[in-house]
Amino acid sequence: MTLKENIDNASILISISDKEFNLLSELIYQKTGIFLQQHKKSLIVSRLNKIVKDLKFNNFHDYYEYVINDPSGEALVSMVDKISTNHTFFFREKEHFDFLKEQVFPELFPVSKKDKKIRVWSAGCSTGEEVFSLAFLLSEYLGTAINQWDIGLLATDISMTALVKARESVYSQDRVNALPAEMIKKYFQKTENAEFKVKEEIKKMVLFKKLNFMDEKFPFKGKFHIIFCRNVMIYFDKETSLKLIDKFYHSLYPGGYLMIGHSENIARYHHSFQYIKPAVYKKEASHES
Ligand SMILES: C[S@@+](CC[C@H](N)C(=O)[O-])C[C@H]1O[C@@H](n2cnc3c(N)ncnc32)[C@H](O)[C@@H]1O
Repeated sequence: MTLKENIDNASILISISDKEFNLLSELIYQKTGIFLQQHKKSLIVSRLNKIVKDLKFNNFHDYYEYVINDPSGEALVSMVDKISTNHTFFFREKEHFDFLKEQVFPELFPVSKKDKKIRVWSAGCSTGEEVFSLAFLLSEYLGTAINQWDIGLLATDISMTALVKARESVYSQDRVNALPAEMIKKYFQKTENAEFKVKEEIKKMVLFKKLNFMDEKFPFKGKFHIIFCRNVMIYFDKETSLKLIDKFYHSLYPGGYLMIGHSENIARYHHSFQYIKPAVYKKEASHES
């Protein structure tokens, strides 16, 4: 095949029937909670087309059969990687970071606190920008006192591709561009390829783990003071979101905070959290877990 034929072949999209779409979207929903309505047909085609062709299938039905019958589960992992949307950036939705600095940190982590423990979870961390933004903010807030604190930032995602990048913690110039120059200098090391690697003293605060929100139970012994789960539930339906919100509730210390994406609206759902302000919820301090 010539290069031109190869390019032409790659750009031809395999069509998907309603039946094939229903099979795949139901599988994706069951395994990830991601809810794809009929109008997302073209999304499935554009994201899975290459994988289906590389595997030499002519249609989505054969690909579906292959995924559900793969005993290793790797076919499912690759499919989830393609379907999940990993868009993120440093200090996305700045309002949350301002609120943390001005209200939440002084309340949860006062200088006088005896138990100097901080536990934060970036749930659906994608390529790591969110959790590193939190680490930079905590470092700025605590200053030289940071060494007196036991800080644990957990960052989880279902996508292995995203997690591999997050663990590498290397970002291109355009991804760090929006950060203040002093912050880049303080928290990144320039690599030989003129990219920016998060410094070890920040990286060691963070633990990256694979976790699927659909798992019946979360495998944590301890609880968190703050959970960020932003721009994730937008892909879920009400039932899946409510189950997840309940699991977050039980994963927080009393008085702990849940931050969701500003385009996500859970105020209309019946849950145990107290509404604080747009995209900010709190587990009441008096409530036992
Ligand atoms: C759009 S990104 C959001 C990243 C970051 N929280 C932000 O707001 O910038 C959504 C992330 O949720 C992850 N995700 C989707 N479904 C998931 C599931 N069932 N379990 C865990 N993570 C999931 C995706 O892999 C993706 O990295």
